[in-house]
Amino acid sequence: MLTTTAAFTVSQAQAAGNLNVICSADVVICEQLKGDFEKQHDIKVNMVRLSSGESYAKIRAESRNPKTDIWWGGTGDPHLQAASEGLTQEYKSDKLGDLHEWAQKQAESSGFKTVGIYAGALGWGFNTDIFKEKGYKEPVCWADLLNEELKGEIQVANPNSSGTAYTTLASLVQIMGEDKAFEYLKELNNNISQYTKSGSAPVKAAARGETGLGIVFLHDAVAQAASGFPVKAIAPCEGTGYEIGSMSIVKGSKNLDNAKVWYDWALSPEVQSRMKDAKSFQLPSNKAAEVPKEAPKFEDIKLIDYDFTTYGDPKTRKALLERWDDEIGAIAN
Ligand code: F6P
Repeated sequence: MLTTTAAFTVSQAQAAGNLNVICSADVVICEQLKGDFEKQHDIKVNMVRLSSGESYAKIRAESRNPKTDIWWGGTGDPHLQAASEGLTQEYKSDKLGDLHEWAQKQAESSGFKTVGIYAGALGWGFNTDIFKEKGYKEPVCWADLLNEELKGEIQVANPNSSGTAYTTLASLVQIMGEDKAFEYLKELNNNISQYTKSGSAPVKAAARGETGLGIVFLHDAVAQAASGFPVKAIAPCEGTGYEIGSMSIVKGSKNLDNAKVWYDWALSPEVQSRMKDAKSFQLPSNKAAEVPKEAPKFEDIKLIDYDFTTYGDPKTRKALLERWDDEIGAIAN
């Protein structure tokens, strides 16, 4: 009798246990998810917050002895790269059919090794007080960011660490062609004061008046405006790229059952509808989730037909990042 009780307790403890999560979105939504999940499940979440490119590098470095179970959030390109390098594992959630087509396509194109959880378009946010005081022209096109008056006024992240910045690089390449895009980035470098590690840091700096403008996802600019800062979000006139924020289970996850519990939970409309409470204004992937009224809507933005297969491919991503290091990183202030 005693043995049976002991065995029961042990197996229950194993079923509960731990979940190691890398979260690649804003720290506020990361903390909200951890808190909500722990309240609803008997599973302790150990969470690390890292930018998208850093998360990919960590998962790759740990591949022989994985320390992470779930990678939630961050731009889709490095998730696709991880999938094609066999760093993440196939899982077909029952919830897949409840998702928008773009999120299902993300899953199908990776052999179900990743899935779309949210989407958002790229642009920038600028500090309206600074622009007014200094008499700068409102920049509405990518070309306007090259204006000499904006020297030292722009921040963008480094595409090696940040998915936002990699999306910027890949979008410009798709809009202008690769050589023209690098010429543009070289010229833009004259106006850049800092290449940050995290993708949303530039618009947080603009909100605080530390810089004039940050190239970021539009939802990150809107989040600053919603917090009361003088920030205006702009979707560029030539067109722009977008992200399919993604989620993957790490291959060799030591808490696989718990990882699947998180995965199904994170695809539910209830969880996605609550993202706006953390001022996370992306478009949710579950069709039944509430779209935040603040979320920049795709129908209002000139979107390019972003080629996720090509730009999430390890060869393309590696080559573009190497060229960025050689031609832009090398001259960065
Ligand atoms: O701040 C939220 C967010 O923009 C997500 O929508 C996106 O997936 C992530 O941050 C990208 O962060 P980073 O550029 O630091 O990888």
